[in-house]
Amino acid sequence: MPTAIRQVTTGQNAEAAISAAYNEAGYRYGKYADGNPRTLFAFDGRHAYGDRKTWELIEGRLLALRATGACRLRVLDMGCGPGTWLRRIVVRARQLGFAEIVAHGFDIADIQLHRARALSRGVAELDGVSLTFAHGDLRGRIAGPRSAYDLCLCLCGVLNHMPVSELPEVFARMAKVTANCFIASVRSVGSTPTVYVDDLTSAVRFYQDNKLGRLDVEFSNGRRSSFPSHLFSRTELAGLASPVFDVDEIRGLDLFHGRFAADPRWNPPTATMLARLSQELERLEDRYCCDPGFVDHATHLLIMAHKPRTARS
Ligand SMILES: C[S@@+](CC[C@H](N)C(=O)[O-])C[C@H]1O[C@@H](n2cnc3c(N)ncnc32)[C@H](O)[C@@H]1O
Repeated sequence: MPTAIRQVTTGQNAEAAISAAYNEAGYRYGKYADGNPRTLFAFDGRHAYGDRKTWELIEGRLLALRATGACRLRVLDMGCGPGTWLRRIVVRARQLGFAEIVAHGFDIADIQLHRARALSRGVAELDGVSLTFAHGDLRGRIAGPRSAYDLCLCLCGVLNHMPVSELPEVFARMAKVTANCFIASVRSVGSTPTVYVDDLTSAVRFYQDNKLGRLDVEFSNGRRSSFPSHLFSRTELAGLASPVFDVDEIRGLDLFHGRFAADPRWNPPTATMLARLSQELERLEDRYCCDPGFVDHATHLLIMAHKPRTARS
């Protein structure tokens, strides 16, 4: 990659490069990541398998909380992008009978926040719901008192954009505002490539420098980006979380589905995945998602953790 692209990736400039990349992608990020924004629970996009599994785990936490008799839910989504996870949560929490739902998302990319607000009209106006989005930086102070949120999320690669040296502080900050449950997902060291902000087919060239923790991309529209991108191993993720959380589980999401997915640049439409193949892959995913020999090759590593009881007040 030309050195000109690389000049923008340190300190404040790194932050500007990340927000610029997601702002520039605009609605295309949501389309690439979530598919149709109006069909919240269809899970039929490219990342369908991993998203469906993530949703099962989040929904399990909502059910468990409701089963304790709780009527109030407070959720924070850190690096919320277009807010899809919060919309899913609010809709489901209402169905489960939570009477008061406070859901807040923050992000450094203002265009994504704008998109989140626009897509949330209707859901945000439901009785008993406060669904808000604001500019906020995970590398700075997270607004809100200690243990302010029952459920804290940081999903789909937000943490991959943090400078490695700052990760222990970022985890401490996230733990501070968490009252109970924490769920995050990150790109793993053995994952297949991504350019994060859009489909891989939108890039003509890319290079992930794993020594410097940086991704350089040249998109087909001529735009160039260079921003922090650090890939995680299971061991590293566990090491970062365990000083501040009790870790319930770290599992690999999508070890096989993505690798079997058709590439529109190569495969004809007739090469779609048949139901039997999909079922077999699902079986393999379940079998190997926690296997130490496989987990670091998943598309994402998902961590579920909770705040130690002694640290909750
Ligand atoms: C791959 S997207 C994930 C968005 C969303 N969590 C999802 O699951 O679709 C990464 C998001 O992290 C945001 N981000 C990156 N660095 C951030 C930071 N320091 N503070 C807050 N958000 C950040 C980006 O702007 C982008 O919206």
